[in-house]
Amino acid sequence: MAGAKLVAGNWKMHGTSADLCEIEAIAEAARALNGRVEVALCVPATLIHRASEAFPGFPIGAQDIHMAEKGAHTGDLCAAMLHDAGAVLTIVGHSERRDAHREDDSCVRAKAEAALRSELRVILCVGESDAERGSGRAVEVVCGQLDASLPGGEAAAGAVPDRLAVAYEPIWAIGTGKIPTTGDIAEMHRALRQRLLAAFGEAGRQVRILYGGSVKPANAVEIFAIPDVGGALVGGASLKAADFLPIVEAAAR
Ligand code: PGA
Repeated sequence: MAGAKLVAGNWKMHGTSADLCEIEAIAEAARALNGRVEVALCVPATLIHRASEAFPGFPIGAQDIHMAEKGAHTGDLCAAMLHDAGAVLTIVGHSERRDAHREDDSCVRAKAEAALRSELRVILCVGESDAERGSGRAVEVVCGQLDASLPGGEAAAGAVPDRLAVAYEPIWAIGTGKIPTTGDIAEMHRALRQRLLAAFGEAGRQVRILYGGSVKPANAVEIFAIPDVGGALVGGASLKAADFLPIVEAAAR
């Protein structure tokens, strides 16, 4: 789709109040870009309130939510709590949660729907394993994941395409320094776009498809030049402004 790219950082289980200075530097640089690229940081839940209060207007996100509105779920956080703390978006279905917390597609879908029923925007992650890529089934597997985890029903009736982004993150590329070929990224994004058009009609064109997995300053320009790459979800290289901002600038070109 046309329009500004979205570059979102995923801090995972990194960051305490000592790192608010990194958020400040990123927020200031993002503001100076005047909307040429949209920047957001998905920080640990413990930092959401402090970061959103300290840097008003800069989008702070969560990394996960519970699918229920409230209840007996020790240690979990629902959409209303995250929104109340200042989050404006959340990641759902990251492969680290699909793996370590055994989240399947229906769980991811319920989480995406819960986020959209509240005020939150959603970055929905999908991606294949090394073995799935090796067996030639990557496109089939990832499109199957998307079909089964896309929000539907009541949540899909409203402004879903506006508030939804999909992140294609090959599991074998996360934190490894390896990335797919530009041809493989282009092929996957093309296939995901077809699935979004099938799900949402023409409105499916508005859903940004991000690439994630070892995005660095050194490869960002090349990745952002691939057709239908609408931004990036960045892990390790989002922790320091000095690494993240060159990626943001590459997306603004
Ligand atoms: P990485 O992580 O950029 O460190 O590979 C990306 C992610 O897991 O979202």
